[in-house]
Amino acid sequence: MASQKTILKALAGETQATPPIWMMRQAGRYLPEYRATREQAGDFLSLCYNPDLATEVTLQPIRRYGFDAAILFADILLVPQALGADLWFVTGEGPRLSTITEQADFDKLGPADEVHETLNPIYQTVRNLSGALPPETTLIGFAGAPWTVATYMIAGRGTPDQGPAHALKSDNRPLFEALMERITEATIHYLSAQIDAGAEVVKVFDSWAGSLRGQDFEDFAVAPTKRIISALKEKHPGIPVIAFPREGGDGYIGFHEKTGADCVAIDNSVSPEWAAEHIQKDGCVQGNLASSHMVTGGEALVRETKAVVEAFRGGPHIFNLGHGITPDADPDNVQLMIDTVRSA
Ligand code: CP3
Repeated sequence: MASQKTILKALAGETQATPPIWMMRQAGRYLPEYRATREQAGDFLSLCYNPDLATEVTLQPIRRYGFDAAILFADILLVPQALGADLWFVTGEGPRLSTITEQADFDKLGPADEVHETLNPIYQTVRNLSGALPPETTLIGFAGAPWTVATYMIAGRGTPDQGPAHALKSDNRPLFEALMERITEATIHYLSAQIDAGAEVVKVFDSWAGSLRGQDFEDFAVAPTKRIISALKEKHPGIPVIAFPREGGDGYIGFHEKTGADCVAIDNSVSPEWAAEHIQKDGCVQGNLASSHMVTGGEALVRETKAVVEAFRGGPHIFNLGHGITPDADPDNVQLMIDTVRSA
C-alpha cells in the first residue's frame, strides 16, 4: 500500500491539495525549549553527540507545531570530525576546524569507512526518533555535500566566498580531488548508516554550491551528489533523496535528472513562479519562503506564504523556507506560516 505520509507522497511525485511542511533549522535557538536543552548539554557538539538530548530537541518542534517531517538534530561538520579534523564552535561566530592546505594535512585524515566510531551516537538518535515520532511524521536524515564540507575543511571556518577552497582547487588539484573523494565516500557510509537506523528520507545540503559555476558546478556540485545518490539507491532501493544546491541559479535546471534526486530544494534567489516553470516540471520541489518573514511576520508573511503555495500548486511540493530559520525569529510567526499553508 502506498504510504500515507504526506512528505513521502510528495517525494513520490504526488500533487497534494495542501503541501506538507517542515522548516530548515526547525530545532534551534529561536525556541526557548531548545535553548534550555542546549544549556543542559553544555555546548552545541555535546548536544549533537548526546542521543537522548538530540532526540529531545528534534522532537520539540514536532510537539509544538506538528510539522510533517522531523530532521535529525546533528551537523554537517560531524563528518570532518569523524575523519579526524579538529572541530569546535565559537559562540556568536561559528565553526572552527583544523585546516587542510597541504598533503601532510590530508594524510592525517582517517579512512572513509572508519567514521562510524565517532558517528555511532548519531545513529542512536535516529533509532530513538524512529520509535518516538508520531506515525504521520517523516524522519529526515542528512549530510553536507562534499563541496560544502570541503570549503569548511580547507579554510577551517565559514568563508564569504569560499576563497581558500577555490584556491586549493586551482593550485593543487590532486589534493583537492583526493579530499572531495574522501568526503564523498565518508558521506555515503554516514547516510547509509542513518538509513539503516531508520531515516526515511535523506537530504544533501550543498550550502555553497552557488560559488561553483560552469564546469565546476558539474564536477563538484552535480557529480558528487549524483554519486552519493546512486550509491544510496543501490544499497537502499527506493530511498528518497532531497538535494539542496543552494543558490544554484540556472544550475537548478535539470538537477533532478542529472543527479537522480527525488526533490530539489530551492533558496530565495529564485522566484517560486520561475521554479515552478523550470524545476518543478522535473519533480518535487521544496521551498522557498524567505526566512526573514519568521522575524517580521504580519500581513507580508501571510501574503508571501500564500504566493509560494499558489505558485507550486500544480505539482509535487514540500513547503519550507529558502534557508534555515534564524535565532531572532518569533515562534508565533512560525505558527502563522503553518496555519496559512494548511488553510490556503
Ligand atoms: O535543520 C535542523 O534543525 C537540523 C539540524 C541542523 C543543524 N545544522 C543544527 C545547527 C542541520 C541540518 C544543519 C546543517 C548545517 N550546518 C549546514 C547546512 C545548511 C545551512 O545552514 O546552509 C551548515 C553550513 C552547517 C554548519 C554550521 N553549523 C554553521 C555554519 C553553524 C554556525 C552558524 C549558526 O547558525 O550558528 C552551525 C551551528 C548549528 N548547527 C546550530 C544548529 C542548531 C546553532 C548552534 C547553537 O545551538 O549554538
